Amino acid sequence: MIRKCLFPAAGYGTRFLPATKAMPKEMMPIVNKPLIEYGVEEALEAGMTDMCMVTGRGKNAILDHFDMNYELEHQISGTQKETLLADIRAILDRANFTYIRQREMKGLGHAILTGRPLVGDHPFAVVLADDLCMHPEEGVLAQMVGLYKQFRCSIIAVEEVPAEETHKYGVIAGRMLTDRLICVEDMIEKPERGKAPSNLAIIGRYILTPDIFDILEKTPPGKNGEIQITDALLQQARTGCVLAYKFKGKRFDCGAVKGFIAATNYCYENFYLHGE
Ligand code: UTP
Repeated sequence: MIRKCLFPAAGYGTRFLPATKAMPKEMMPIVNKPLIEYGVEEALEAGMTDMCMVTGRGKNAILDHFDMNYELEHQISGTQKETLLADIRAILDRANFTYIRQREMKGLGHAILTGRPLVGDHPFAVVLADDLCMHPEEGVLAQMVGLYKQFRCSIIAVEEVPAEETHKYGVIAGRMLTDRLICVEDMIEKPERGKAPSNLAIIGRYILTPDIFDILEKTPPGKNGEIQITDALLQQARTGCVLAYKFKGKRFDCGAVKGFIAATNYCYENFYLHGE
């Protein structure tokens, strides 16, 4: 039912400099697969087929990755190495990729609004590829699609984080509906230390109803002078309904070195070693 998944991938990735000076952060590999490929696989598993990418300057490697490379294919054709391209070939057979460029990096909310022509008037998912999410049975987006079918409103994935880390995230507060579901009543982007309304941090998985675009059009720049999706979602929560979902599974913040290394170790031990 939700076919489109938006990947805001225009950010500079300054926390990973110098690696991200000429290479998109989303192309950094966890073991031997770029971050964004994990995100696309999660979207496919959740039934999505249209991958809508918001890119910017210096992000062409993403376009090349999700395309044929005839020279390489010819070179390894008939050798054992051919199997190494099996996953990406399967993705290309199953998904469509469309791209739009964000000319100025005015924040995540602005990046999502930039994706509007690709998404149209449909509910859609958003994946921030630097948050790598893992669950052995059902990916986080698939879990959220199940909830969307039931509630038909915007749903944001949240995770409990230590109090001393809330200032790095959008933080929500609200009414508990079940042990995993909260009706959002308040939301603050990167609250100052000691000012967070809870320890429930928004992570990089969203399902959004398309009215969010009209709200984003009217959302003024907020924290750090950027157009914040958090501000638009708070508006949507006040006039309609936004649910926060404590997802099942693990999340690694691969936009920072510590999370990136943890994800690498996890994937090496759980997937790569078995495939060797
Ligand atoms: P981040 O806050 O992680 O920013 O953005 P960043 O630029 O990628 O990384 P740092 O903080 O400088 O190291 C969250 C997500 O929103 C996208 C980013 O690509 C990332 O997926 N984004 C952010 C945009 O697409 N455009 C923007 O203007 C800002």
